[in-house]
Amino acid sequence: MPDRGTLLIFGATRGVGLELARHARAQGRAVTAFVRPGSTVEALQAIGATLLRGDALSSEDVARAIAGTPGDIDIVSTLGGRAQDGRRADDEGNINVVRAAVDSGRTRRVVLITSIGCGEMAPFRSARAISAFGAAVDAKTRAEDTLRRSGLDWTILRPGGLISEPATGEAILSTDPEMHGVVHREDVALMTLRTLRDPATVGHAFAIVDSGRMQCANPVQPFPLSA
Ligand SMILES: NC(=O)c1ccc[n+]([C@@H]2O[C@H](COP(=O)([O-])OP(=O)(O)OC[C@H]3O[C@@H](n4cnc5c(N)ncnc54)[C@H](OP(=O)(O)O)[C@@H]3O)[C@@H](O)[C@H]2O)c1
Repeated sequence: MPDRGTLLIFGATRGVGLELARHARAQGRAVTAFVRPGSTVEALQAIGATLLRGDALSSEDVARAIAGTPGDIDIVSTLGGRAQDGRRADDEGNINVVRAAVDSGRTRRVVLITSIGCGEMAPFRSARAISAFGAAVDAKTRAEDTLRRSGLDWTILRPGGLISEPATGEAILSTDPEMHGVVHREDVALMTLRTLRDPATVGHAFAIVDSGRMQCANPVQPFPLSA
């Protein structure tokens, strides 16, 4: 089935979000990117993405962006990071997105990109991971929890360590809470588009790792994406 409606991306200026915008546009999809005033947007302009400006830490800015995007919307958020005042896009920004998506009444799917270690994966984090990223991962878990309770058609993708290299095509989705590994940003973007096309992914949280560079205490059974 062809993709309908607009893909609205929060966090599209770089990394996974920019790769997602690139591939969605290459597949002929309308893409709208929510960007901060002053962020680097030349790459998004070059691929013909529509830009909406605002700060994800402002619930008004996020609500205005979603209300101003016409038709049915698929939303992907890769938001992450901490502002100078200590507030985090990992929780607050993503929670603003989820609440505005509910209020719009036109949200078809939401894919939230968080991190390995979130939710039920937390007990399997290493001391080093907790020390390095614990606060960010805990904040992302709060956003995941809001999304799970939202009533939206949600999917959570939790990447392992992210690498900025071309896609390997070897990424897998796994529901094993003991999964660890790394994954290329472009592979996360491509798997996000496949996830949006596969209704069987609704209501699941998946680790996403490269099958050639994963570690897991248990036998690995990748989720069988149909798209
Ligand atoms: N680094 C890793 O190894 C790793 C591992 C697992 C998961 N993750 C998570 O995976 C996701 C993607 O990571 P990435 O490294 O590809 O991307 P990233 O560099 O973390 O990009 C974050 C995006 O969020 C935007 N953003 C942050 N705060 C915002 C705000 N208040 N309002 C609007 N936009 C805001 C940034 O825009 P600006 O350009 O304006 O800053 C940027 O587009 C992130 O959530 C990250 O935390 C990372």
